[in-house]
Amino acid sequence: MIAYDKESMVFTLHTCHTTYQMKADAYCVLLHTYYGPRISGGDLSNLIQYTDRGFSPNPGEAGHCRTYSLDTLPQEYSSCGVGDFRIPSIELELEDGSRIADFRYTGFEIHKGKYTLEGLPAFYGDQAETLILFLEDTASQVGLELYYGVFEQYDLITRAARVVNKGTVPVRLHQASSLCLDFQRSDLDLITFDGRHVMERCPNRAPLRPGVQRVSSVRGTSSHQHNPFVILCDHDANEEYGLCFGALLLYSGNFEAAVERSQFENTRLVMGVNPYHFCYTLEQGEVFTAPEAALICSPCGFTRMSQQFHRAIRQALLRDAHQDRRKPVLVNNWEATHFDFDAEKLVEIAKESAPLGIELFVMDDGWFGSRDSDLGGLGDWSVNQNKLPGGLEALVPRINQLGMQFGLWIEPEMINEDSALYRAHPDWALGMPGRAHTRGRSQLVLDFSRADVREHIYQALQTVLSSANIVYLKWDMNRSLSEVWSAAIPASRQGEVYHRYVLGLYDLLERFHQDYPGLLIEGCSGGGGRFDAGMLYYTPQIWCSDNTDAIDRLRIQYGTSFCYPVCTMGAHVSAVPNESNERITPLKTRGVVAMSGAFGYEMDLSKTTTEEKELIVQQIHTYKAHWKLIHQGDYYRLTDPFQNQAYTAWEHVSQDRREALVSYVTGSIHAAPPFVTLRLKGLDPQLCYQVNGSEESYRGDVLMLAGYPIPMMLGDYQSLQLYLIAKDETASQ
Ligand code: DGJ
Repeated sequence: MIAYDKESMVFTLHTCHTTYQMKADAYCVLLHTYYGPRISGGDLSNLIQYTDRGFSPNPGEAGHCRTYSLDTLPQEYSSCGVGDFRIPSIELELEDGSRIADFRYTGFEIHKGKYTLEGLPAFYGDQAETLILFLEDTASQVGLELYYGVFEQYDLITRAARVVNKGTVPVRLHQASSLCLDFQRSDLDLITFDGRHVMERCPNRAPLRPGVQRVSSVRGTSSHQHNPFVILCDHDANEEYGLCFGALLLYSGNFEAAVERSQFENTRLVMGVNPYHFCYTLEQGEVFTAPEAALICSPCGFTRMSQQFHRAIRQALLRDAHQDRRKPVLVNNWEATHFDFDAEKLVEIAKESAPLGIELFVMDDGWFGSRDSDLGGLGDWSVNQNKLPGGLEALVPRINQLGMQFGLWIEPEMINEDSALYRAHPDWALGMPGRAHTRGRSQLVLDFSRADVREHIYQALQTVLSSANIVYLKWDMNRSLSEVWSAAIPASRQGEVYHRYVLGLYDLLERFHQDYPGLLIEGCSGGGGRFDAGMLYYTPQIWCSDNTDAIDRLRIQYGTSFCYPVCTMGAHVSAVPNESNERITPLKTRGVVAMSGAFGYEMDLSKTTTEEKELIVQQIHTYKAHWKLIHQGDYYRLTDPFQNQAYTAWEHVSQDRREALVSYVTGSIHAAPPFVTLRLKGLDPQLCYQVNGSEESYRGDVLMLAGYPIPMMLGDYQSLQLYLIAKDETASQ
């Protein structure tokens, strides 16, 4: 609900459990007055204290009043160059060389339904409401529109900003953030999700220190190294307790999340497109739209925050034609063959897969152009006839005849120098004449800021898609951007290329979404190098990591789960020893871990034993029986795999709390292991739950408060699953 009080100029946004408030003050400065657990309302600006602070200057209108300073006030969108020395939200450069921005409130609009952002991903929903606040920097004649989307049931508040040049001369934008959030406290921890290729999104938590702490990417993608999602929380917040604020940016390129603990123990979080190499020129009448950010506050710990993000992402961000249907269990040939395959090898794997219950065959990298290794071929999206005689027209019907659907790997944003495309259009790659290209995996990046380049790729892929019955694409992206310079635009516009690249990517993805509504696209960037909410708007699942080792995946999937729902995490059972770390884990455990995601296999099934095949059949059966519980239920982290090396456990609970699936995986074994009694979460204390279809049953309160005795399992990396279903009679009967 959005409430506006005309007299006090206070805007209050209520969700089911939270309240967010701001106020235009006497000088039309937009102050942030409150964000936290739901309260009744009123004007909360009484929380702001006005004191004379040395070296915190006072704006002209305040005369000689020394107690009013932008340097101390909590603001909704911080200014630049006018006496607030904390992180700015916006930086403008005018023709006269000045870099000053001082936006004041001029008006508002309230609408039913959620705003949209042209060309950018955004949460959607008719049930939501929109508030638009209009501000203006009079001297530069630049307008600022702050957008707020309120989704009551998810406790979700979205934000975005539009900068409009209303003057007659060009304005250069060096920064335009999506979100500025001021807190009148600094006793907070910051949690970020960091890592590297094959070890993404590991949580790091530390109390705020004085000064600015930031995570960011300058790689052109959101990156393996840092995720555009952060949490600020009470020092003692845990899964069930404490106030926490999750902030998510829906953007897949260079981002920055900066947090400042300032001199008077206030905190400011600013999130948006990274100002690094960013300079966007707005001619008269032109607009820049800052991507959407989304906030969820939980008064009772991380579990509630994560579950609300999961619901919001599943129901109001993913545009997934498959959402209410089970997605096919897939087998991907990458780890089985790498580039070394032909049609016969693929059909052999498919023949082994179909009888096990696998429904989709995905042909990974190596099927096109001169692609026999990663040295060439990218850009030439026509079938390699040596490997696949007769092309997809011949191969796909053979797969379909086995009762399997067919999917295809692509890497549309890339080009190898050894390709017909590069020989014809060397200037289509990002890079500068006169400077050597920096190669990443021996490849260059296509200039996706250019419509002509995108059009060519679209046409080429459309030809591929129309040549056969293809239901799935894996959209990969295997390097970071360098020499970011476009041959298609003038020098003065080169600061726009990073951002225009992302807009171009979204434009192409949207085109596929519109033209092929039933096509399932899985995102990928060397695994989880672009695992972000921006991509999820176009690709409802993303290959979570190139690391398929079940034990490392416990950590990766744990970290990812703080924001992103399990249905978005591509997770496959692969062969052992694992490619990434040579670890050997039991097939059973690999299945337990992978089925807590968008499930599939990534191994040569023609090399599995009869016993292994029987287990795979069981795994697929379990997944098919419980996919709804796994993908649409509430997710509970029962342990932290970074703290507890002995075992990791998690749980999916159905919305009506009548069903639950508990997964439990042990670490490397030590002699005489301790007894484990695992306390479950989210059950109905009054119900009696039957365990794994046996005679064994327990009351919900017993399972949650006393726990479940985990049977002793010897050997490394063992696992078990407990499927709990409420018996008809209640425990008290
Ligand atoms: C990186 C991906 O993450 C892998 O799964 C695989 O598709 C390779 N690229 C293929 O080059």
